[in-house]
Amino acid sequence: MIRAIVAGCGAYLPARAVSNADLIAEKHIDSDSEWIERRTGITQRHIAAADEKTSDLATKAARNALAHAGIDAAAIDAVIVATTTPDDRFPATAAKVQADLGIAHGFAFDVQAVCSGFVYALTIADNFIRLGQARCVLVIGAETFSRLLDWNDRTTSVLFGDGAGAVVLQAQEGAGTMADQGILSTHLHSDGRHYELLRTDEAGFVRMDGKEVFRHAVTNLSDVVDEALAATGLKPEQIDWLVPHQANQRIIDGTGKKLGLSAERVVSTIALHANTSAASIPLALATAVHDGRIRRGQIVLLDAMGGGFTWGAAVVRW
Ligand code: UT7
Repeated sequence: MIRAIVAGCGAYLPARAVSNADLIAEKHIDSDSEWIERRTGITQRHIAAADEKTSDLATKAARNALAHAGIDAAAIDAVIVATTTPDDRFPATAAKVQADLGIAHGFAFDVQAVCSGFVYALTIADNFIRLGQARCVLVIGAETFSRLLDWNDRTTSVLFGDGAGAVVLQAQEGAGTMADQGILSTHLHSDGRHYELLRTDEAGFVRMDGKEVFRHAVTNLSDVVDEALAATGLKPEQIDWLVPHQANQRIIDGTGKKLGLSAERVVSTIALHANTSAASIPLALATAVHDGRIRRGQIVLLDAMGGGFTWGAAVVRW
């Protein structure tokens, strides 16, 4: 059977990193940096420059992923960008990235599943590859989420940041067993009854009932992780790395603990990146691959939860 293997990954963060204290001072937020760090784990976030678009971040992350994979952009036959902050309402940001990379064949489109966007996009790409409709797919999570923030709302404005991460998926023949390299299983869910709990308002600003989202996140992530383990027959101790969406360190710790994983096996980048929505998982992946933690042959579990609600998980043998 055909498997989608991760041939390489890359990331890009805007140059400007803003500490909690600097953000509070600059935007006159009624908060304190100690509260933010204690309740979320966040110490800083990167903020895109005024002329920097989501497609700029996405293209840079994609170039880094292609270089890491040793694959030329000409080999890419699909570009999928998970984003909530497209350059324009249309066309898709993926079309801009495709052109910026000099690709004039294949197809490109965006996926909107907010913070679960990368897991959704990865699942779609995996299906294309396993069906033989694409052989080499760029899957990118890219956000300029800071542009959706109401600086007068302290319950959301301190939580998010900008950035992009990308993976190159490539078709490879596998035996169809869990010993294969590549994406082994994917699990997507949504429940639109909770549409109002995390959304943008008429002005386009993020509004969130943080407590309720937190509560659902803990339950949904726990359930979908169980589902992924059941589908693959893997035991928690066989998971080498949990690479979760980075929304709150307390949620990350909760999922890790539930799996019985020591903190060293959970990749957390929230302290430095904050919540970058669809970009958070590929940013965390790129961090842990490039610093040598995630190695070939290891089992990596991804999970995410976001507005919609949407949530999902993926199991990958790196
Ligand atoms: O990525 C998509 C998924 N998103 C998430 O999973 C986010 C889930 N939610 C969370 O991470 C947390 O609920 C938050 C970080 C948003 C909030 O943390 P919390 O511990 O649940 O705080 P809370 O909402 O219960 O608020 C506790 C107190 C409140 O004050 P009172 O009413 O007790 O006097 C808030 O007004 O903390 C106050 N507060 C703040 N204080 C200082 C809320 N935001 C701030 C702030 N600075 N920025």
